[in-house]
Amino acid sequence: MCGIVGYSGKRDAVKILLSGLSKLEYRGYDSAGIAVCGDSGAVEIRKSKGRLTELEKKLGDGVITGHVGIGHTRWATHGEPSDVNSHPHKSGMVTLVHNGIIENYVKLRDKLKTRGKSFASDTDTEVVAALIDRYYIGDAVEAIFTAAAMLRGSYALAVMFDDRPGEVYAIRKDSPLVVGKGADEIIIASDIPAFLSETRDYYLLDENEIAVVKDGGVKFYDYVKGFHEKELMTATWDVEAAEKGGYPHFMLKEMHEQPATLRDTVFPRISESGKILENELKDTSFIKQIRIVGCGSAMHAGLLGKAFIEKYARVPVTVDIASEFRYSSPVFNEGDVIVLISQSGETADSLAVTKLAKEKGIKTIGIVNVVGSSIARAVDNVVYTNAGPEIAVATTKAYTAQVAVLYLLGLRLAKDRGTIDDARYGEIVAAMRAIPEKAAEVLTHEDEYKRLASIYQGAHDMFFIGRGQDSALCCEGSLKLKEISYMHSEAYAAGELKHGTISLITEGVPVVAVATTEAMLEKTVSNVKEVSARGAAVIFVSQLEAEGGFYKEKIVLPTLDEAVMPILAIIPMQLFAYYVAIARGCDVDKPRNLAKSVTVE
Ligand code: AGP
Repeated sequence: MCGIVGYSGKRDAVKILLSGLSKLEYRGYDSAGIAVCGDSGAVEIRKSKGRLTELEKKLGDGVITGHVGIGHTRWATHGEPSDVNSHPHKSGMVTLVHNGIIENYVKLRDKLKTRGKSFASDTDTEVVAALIDRYYIGDAVEAIFTAAAMLRGSYALAVMFDDRPGEVYAIRKDSPLVVGKGADEIIIASDIPAFLSETRDYYLLDENEIAVVKDGGVKFYDYVKGFHEKELMTATWDVEAAEKGGYPHFMLKEMHEQPATLRDTVFPRISESGKILENELKDTSFIKQIRIVGCGSAMHAGLLGKAFIEKYARVPVTVDIASEFRYSSPVFNEGDVIVLISQSGETADSLAVTKLAKEKGIKTIGIVNVVGSSIARAVDNVVYTNAGPEIAVATTKAYTAQVAVLYLLGLRLAKDRGTIDDARYGEIVAAMRAIPEKAAEVLTHEDEYKRLASIYQGAHDMFFIGRGQDSALCCEGSLKLKEISYMHSEAYAAGELKHGTISLITEGVPVVAVATTEAMLEKTVSNVKEVSARGAAVIFVSQLEAEGGFYKEKIVLPTLDEAVMPILAIIPMQLFAYYVAIARGCDVDKPRNLAKSVTVE
C-alpha cells in the first residue's frame, strides 16, 4: 500500500518527510515524492520513480527549505510506476498525496475534462486533486468535504493549498491515517512507524473527519461535531512490530487484510449497473478458448478459474504449469487466449510464456498484483488484483484476489455469451459483493483453526481431498501447509483416493475434506467415510448441512453462494497452516529454500 507522511513544525520538513517515508518502505512502493511549502510560501514538488534514493538525488538538484510539507511512497494501482504518475499530484491550487483506490475516477475525470480540466497522469489521485480544486473557492474544509462526498472507494489524503502556506489537511475513508503529536509539531502518517522515533503520542483520524494542521498544531473537524477534541493515544510497541501493524508476522497481517483487499479487487470491477471489467476488457468476443498458465499458488488459482469459467461461461479452459507449458510445444487454435496469473509479475517461467504467446501471435491477459511489472507490461490486457504489496513469501491475499478476478472474468464471459440467466448472474454478483464481509466472518474463528493446528501439528503427513472446485482448492490448502510448516501433504481428488493413495491412510492420519457444492456433497461424504473407516482423522470443511459421525472435527463456513465459496474456504486452511508452522517453530514469513518471486528457471 502507499505511504503518506505530512509535517508541520519548526524543523526541516524535507528531512522529517524523508525519514518518515523510509520507515514506511516495508509497505512496498515503486516511486516516491514530496511537496514542501518553501520559505517563499510556494509549494515545491520533487518526485521520482524508483526508491527513495532516486528522490534524494532529485532533491540534491536544488535544496528546498521549509517547515511544512507532505510526502508519499507509491504502490501503483492506477497508472504504471513513472515520474509523472508519482505523488504528490497538483491541480490548480491543490497539491495532494493519496493512498487507496477511487472506483469512480474515470467518470469523475471525464466530467472534469468537460469543464476544461486536463490531466498529466493516468492516476485516480490526480482526479481527486482536480475535484478538490474545482470546489475550492477559499474554504479548504468545505472543498475537501464536497469532493470527498463524490468519491467512491478508499482514500487517505494529505492536502495543501497554494494560498494557505503552512497548512496541511488530512481526511480518510477505509485507508489508514494517524496524526502524531510532538513538541510544537505534527506528523501525519499512514502508519505509526513513520513518526515513532519522534513521538509516541498520536490521534486516530476517524472516517470523514478532517485534521487541520497549522503552526505545529492540529484541530479536528467533522460535519456533525464541527471542531472537536479527540483522545490522545500513546504507542507502546516497537518499530518492527508497528510495521506489521501489531501482528507477529506479515503473513498473519496479510491474511487479515483479505476482507479489505477482496473489496479493492472486486468492488471497482462491478459497475452500479452490474457490468463487469468494463475498463479492463472492452471486448471479449475474441476469446474462444482460455489457456491459463502460472506457477504454484497462481496455477492453483487457475484451477478454480477453470471450474468456474467452464461451468458458467461454457468456454473451454486448460490450466498449465508455466515451466511445463513453455517447453511442451503447445498446440494453439484460432481464438486461444493465454491468461497469465502472477502475483509478482516477474516469475521467469510465466514471463517466458508471455513472450512465447507474442511470438505465436496469441492474445494474452495478465492477472497480476504488481503494477508495471514485466508480465503486466508484456500482456495485451492486464487486470490488476489490487491486493497491495504482499511481503510474506507464502501468498494468501494475492491468491484469493487472483481467484476473485477469475470469477469476475467468468461472469463477464458468461454474460457476454448469454450462457447465464439474469437471475443466476445477479445471485453470483451479489455473492461477490458479499465476500469481504463473509471473509471477515471466517477470520473471527481464528482461534478454532489455531486449536486444530495444535492437535495436528505433529502429524507426519496430511491429506486434502475434495471434488470439483474443492479438489482445486485442496491443491492450495496442501501447498500452504507444506511450504511454511514443512509437513508433507498431498491434495487429492476425493474420488481418486481408492485408486492407490488410500493405501497411505492409517490410524490417525489427518485428512482435510472439503465440500462446498451440493452436487458433490454426498459423493464427497462417501469418499470421506472410506478414509474414516481406515482410521483417518477427518477435518470436514463445509457450509452445507451434512450428517455427522464421519468426521472428527468440522470447520463450519459462513453460508454464501457455492459458486464463490472457495474464496472463503481457503482462509481457514491458510490460518491452519500458519499455526501449524508456528507450533513447529518455522520461519513463517521467510520459509527455507523459498523466494517471494522466482525470477530464474
Ligand atoms: C507462494 O506462496 C506461492 N506458493 C508460490 O507458489 C507462487 O504462487 C509462485 O511462485 C508464483 O509466483 P507469482 O504469482 O509471483 O508468479
